[in-house]
Amino acid sequence: MNYEIHEICCIGAGYVGGPTMAIIADKCPNIKVNVVDINTNRINAWNSNDLSKLPIFEPGLDEIVKRTRSRNLFFSSDMESAIKNADMIFISVNTPTKTKGIGAGQASDLKYVEACARQVALHSLNHTIVVEKSTLPVRTAEVIKNILESEQIWQKENIEKKTFDVLSNPEFLAEGSAINDLENPDRVLIGGQNDNAIEALSKIYRNWVPDHKILRTNIWSSELAKLTANAFLAQRISSINSIAALCEATGADVREVARAIGTDSRIGSRFLDSGPGFGGSCFKKDILNLVYLSRHFGLPEVANFWESVVSLNTWHQHRISKLVIMKLFGTISEKKISILGFAFKANTNDTRESAAIQICKDLIEEGAELIIHDPKVSPDQIAIDLGLAPLPDKNISSNKNLKSNGGWRFTKDKYSSFIGSDACLILTEWASYSDIDWIKASKIMRKPAWIFDARSIADKKKICDANLLFWRLGDGS
Ligand code: UDX
Ligand code: UDX
Repeated sequence: MNYEIHEICCIGAGYVGGPTMAIIADKCPNIKVNVVDINTNRINAWNSNDLSKLPIFEPGLDEIVKRTRSRNLFFSSDMESAIKNADMIFISVNTPTKTKGIGAGQASDLKYVEACARQVALHSLNHTIVVEKSTLPVRTAEVIKNILESEQIWQKENIEKKTFDVLSNPEFLAEGSAINDLENPDRVLIGGQNDNAIEALSKIYRNWVPDHKILRTNIWSSELAKLTANAFLAQRISSINSIAALCEATGADVREVARAIGTDSRIGSRFLDSGPGFGGSCFKKDILNLVYLSRHFGLPEVANFWESVVSLNTWHQHRISKLVIMKLFGTISEKKISILGFAFKANTNDTRESAAIQICKDLIEEGAELIIHDPKVSPDQIAIDLGLAPLPDKNISSNKNLKSNGGWRFTKDKYSSFIGSDACLILTEWASYSDIDWIKASKIMRKPAWIFDARSIADKKKICDANLLFWRLGDGS
């Protein structure tokens, strides 16, 4: 059996598939990497001559795409030939939470993964190593293997016998730092049954990752480790956000508490920044998956434990919107609020599960007019996320004719969001929000004006000196 890898196919050109394959192509010039996706718009964007139009904004990605594309990195919609030619196929399609049927709201919908497995079974030739890159519920590899093998029986008249190995190789990259995470991973995890297949994938990573960082496990441990890593990370955010609420109530400062506990090497200092609540495509989905699995396997206490991490996060988001309303004299109807940041974190244009979505919806529901700024998120995306078109164009300097039923507008200029606004709410920690000229902002806001900093990036003294009222998450001092 051939375990030499000359050509790779990746199905799914999203936030995971795109950057991961760009790095593999960059580090392994002798391997041809074909990234395919059913979304032709996305593929066209990956092939765009204008690198600022790549479908994903990720610092450093454009440079890598520039030097690898058309050399050994190719983006196309031709799934059939990419599968045929591949010695190894990565599945990086999305696995959304099921919206109906058994497990609705919690379990992963594997329809895309299943569709990919069927395509692989149909078009692959000889021996193929299939690698799960998407985060999947434990024992999905079994499903993939079953599909691959049953399709093979179905096609037994084929002269050539197809064989498969299935590996789990979850991705731990975080958006915004994807390139560094891929180039210098804490670890690479490979789960599988066949040592030769594991070795074939390890060999690819060894082009830039030291061998001691490549962890080999059984396939189920690898799948579960990915869910567990995200659950532990999300749990830290809910833990620190819960303490932020307690700090506000008691006069402590959550940043001081975080620093104090973070110096304990058993706890560690990273991932202790209180914020508006975790977002991103993975945390909520993966925890709910864990909850579903725990219930399925008759462990309701385990399920309840992890579910509370998500419910605390939801409560925390509503707590922020309620607090804004309370500080603005209990009503925000016909008031203007400047929203700085809509992405779920800085350095990405991704808004999936962003805390800004729920918080903005709450404020609009209460009748506020939001002026939203984000350096990378488009107004079209915001309209999709809020399920609401922007208010009709008008001179945003006027605060007349506000709709009492609430709405939003987008602005490219953060300062213009302050014109006539009663408050500003910082929801994403974009670096450009840390050096705002608050005196300039103050001059054009309606007094009394509040600055609500849910990311602890603004300068308290400068804000107070600019005759603005200031609230910071977790700061009860
Ligand atoms: C997704 C999941 O969110 C994550 O949990 C998992 O670990 C990897 O896949 P991401 O890359 O961020 O992460 O998803 P997304 O940006 O939505 O990309 C998935 C791509 O797969 C889309 O471009 C979609 O068009 C494509 N796709 C989906 C296919 O090509 N074929 C399909 O059958 C389904
Ligand atoms: C996460 C995991 O970190 C990554 O390993 C996995 O592969 C995918 O899911 P990502 O969702 O891209 O990555 O971003 P991450 O940096 O983990 O942040 C998730 C959310 O937590 C963001 O909304 C972020 O703002 C929030 N967060 C993070 C905090 O509120 N405080 C922190 O200290 C860290």
